[in-house]
Amino acid sequence: MKITVVGAGAVGATCADNIARRELAEEVVLLDIKEGLSEGKGLDMLQASTLLDCDVKITGSTNNYELTAGSDVVVITSGIPRKPGMTREELIGINAGIVKGVTENILKHSPDAIFVIISNPMDTMTYLALKSSGLPKNRIIGMGGILDSARFKTYLSLALKCSPNDLQASVIGGHGDTTMIPLTRLATLSGVPVGNFLDAETLGKVASDTMVGGATLTKLIGTSAWYAPGAAGAILVESIVRDQKRLFPCSVYLEGEYGQSDICLGVPVVLGRSGWESIVDFNLNEEEQAAFNKSADAVRNMNNVLETLEI
Ligand SMILES: NC(=O)c1ccc[n+]([C@@H]2O[C@H](COP(=O)([O-])OP(=O)(O)OC[C@H]3O[C@@H](n4cnc5c(N)ncnc54)[C@H](O)[C@@H]3O)[C@@H](O)[C@H]2O)c1
Repeated sequence: MKITVVGAGAVGATCADNIARRELAEEVVLLDIKEGLSEGKGLDMLQASTLLDCDVKITGSTNNYELTAGSDVVVITSGIPRKPGMTREELIGINAGIVKGVTENILKHSPDAIFVIISNPMDTMTYLALKSSGLPKNRIIGMGGILDSARFKTYLSLALKCSPNDLQASVIGGHGDTTMIPLTRLATLSGVPVGNFLDAETLGKVASDTMVGGATLTKLIGTSAWYAPGAAGAILVESIVRDQKRLFPCSVYLEGEYGQSDICLGVPVVLGRSGWESIVDFNLNEEEQAAFNKSADAVRNMNNVLETLEI
């Protein structure tokens, strides 16, 4: 198994590090346009491996796509992150050109790869990668919902004073502060609805904290977060390469599912060796479906911006 991570910045390097530590592949390639960055971070990870008993070949590459040849899975994190006060959507002008170019370069050397898109605005970048590559829809997967669900579980566990490991909770819809939908009705503590333990006001606060989870960190750190995003990317990759069939909310191309078409949006999908394998219907109630439709409208507006860009 060979996995390439494009972008050796905060998220890409953390993702590659998690992939290596979990030994998800025999070879991990880290690629960046900044001279020496991926080689340096790759070497640092290799040295960490000797301490952690990981046996993975880690190769750094300054924009040399030949080194990525034959990758089974490619994670795209290249692009600019947001700064305090910025929305993810403001990144589109720069990141669209980067994601499109990287996808083309990767495909020249790894025609069978499964793509995991992390660069923001993620739902639109996933749609762009799908449309520009012409690949089968199951091989293009956007990572956002796994991270947002981790944030949802974090705030739930703090409110419930419980272990996050005993929680089941999903965030679907767009990966944006106003477009994501924490499914509070369906969240459970060991199978019991969290609404049995938390009042509506507390649950509302958990949901709103989740939605601005990324912005809260960006304000604190001065740039967007990387530990949880990198880990979320690695967990997604793990389900693919180990064919685990885990159920995670990911941004995938919809053709009528959840009432939407011709859009990539976060829905619960089963992830296995062929990419995303099926979409699971959570039977949204009227209010949740209305929120999903509103989220789709916002993401569709962002997708329309692609047509105005010269990429
Ligand atoms: N989907 C999510 O849940 C999620 C979470 C966090 C961050 N993000 C997004 O991930 C992206 C990366 O964030 P970050 O914090 O790692 O940023 P970063 O600035 O630390 O790293 C980005 C890296 O991409 C590289 N790069 C730029 N153009 C490139 C190209 N054409 N080819 C190869 N590499 C290129 C840069 O040199 C840089 O090292 C941002 O768009 C950010 O908004 C998404």
